[in-house]
Amino acid sequence: MKKLFVELGDRSYPIYIGSGLLQKPELFKKHIKSKQVLVVTNTTIAPLYLDTVLKNLSGYTVEHVILPDGEQYKNLESLLPIFDKLLACKFSRNATLIALGGGVVGDMGGFAAACYQRGIPFLQIPTTLLAQVDSSVGGKTGVNHPLGKNMIGAFYQPQCVIADADVLDTLADRELSAGLAEVIKYGLIRDYPFFEWLENNISLLLARDKNALAYAIEQSCLNKATIVAEDETETGVRATLNLGHTFGHAIETGSGYGSYLHGEAVAIGTCQAADLSRRKGWLTDDDVGRITGLFIKANLPVTPPAQLDPDKFLELMSVDKKNVDGKIRLILLNQIGKATLPDYVDQDLLVLTLKSYGRE
Ligand code: NAD
Ligand code: GLY
Repeated sequence: MKKLFVELGDRSYPIYIGSGLLQKPELFKKHIKSKQVLVVTNTTIAPLYLDTVLKNLSGYTVEHVILPDGEQYKNLESLLPIFDKLLACKFSRNATLIALGGGVVGDMGGFAAACYQRGIPFLQIPTTLLAQVDSSVGGKTGVNHPLGKNMIGAFYQPQCVIADADVLDTLADRELSAGLAEVIKYGLIRDYPFFEWLENNISLLLARDKNALAYAIEQSCLNKATIVAEDETETGVRATLNLGHTFGHAIETGSGYGSYLHGEAVAIGTCQAADLSRRKGWLTDDDVGRITGLFIKANLPVTPPAQLDPDKFLELMSVDKKNVDGKIRLILLNQIGKATLPDYVDQDLLVLTLKSYGRE
């Protein structure tokens, strides 16, 4: 088992990465300081892993909530059954919430924990590759609004992250690829050697080679933990984790939540950001080819949906947490392995990218 840390002073916490971690009661017990525990999961994950997790919790008063599965349920309304259960069972302020699932369950469970009685402790048990390499680490929690993705939420750090790579055995191939989009992101924004490693090892990852996956999860968490420790609430460098996400969120919102997986939308958005970086003169054609080529090899889409025209894109991109006074600010790439901080973009160049990239 590997143990990394997110260093945030008295809110620091470990990320455990390894095999068989869901069968280690001592890991859970170490981070649960109360008798009352609520496990939040969804209809797909419950039959696979809920019993395994519950077995670690003998001796506690344990309740669970099973949410419907899907990005389309990541909204305020779907949080209510969590609060209903916590209140009906008279869970108090020291109760612990366990979020068992992918990024949707993790973001929602974390937000419920942040809100209930103004904050109760919670554990992240990520079960998708995307959640293990990104969403479970760093304390971003929240839900979507019909007008904008992740627009309602809170920064709220977990007590620990337990990433058991064995659960990826049951993950669909399409979901594995979606997780790879965020893995590739770390190489692009700050870790060129990792990008090269990914170019050389992408087929091993797709074949679910255990060693390759373990390395990719660890390297991703290391990059994310370093960034979060430096800038917890995204006043600077943390925004680089949003490379491609402004385009991607527009694709998710504009196509109806759930049509594109988050990682798929991020892959397309990152290619659009790379195209814009080339138009700025920062990336070469060869760089853009390497970036799109890696996403394609990872079985990810790289062209925007035809029905989302440039005007609609611009409208959707104007609802984004990085924007200031309603003006779009984007993360671009100075080179492969080096992202820019968010900045206003030349509107003409952005429109060129929206009109041209992937539409010829
Ligand atoms: P997801 O949570 O919808 O999970 C994908 C699918 O896989 C779901 O159907 C789920 O039920 C299923 N699943 C989960 N684990 C499984 C397993 N082990 N075996 C079989 N099926 C399994 O999607 P995701 O890609 O994990 O997360 C995407 C979400 O994460 C988006 O809402 C995105 O906004 C959010 N996100 C948050 C952050 C953050 O920092 N908080 C970062 C990146 C993404
Ligand atoms: N996934 C973006 C962040 O955690 O900041």
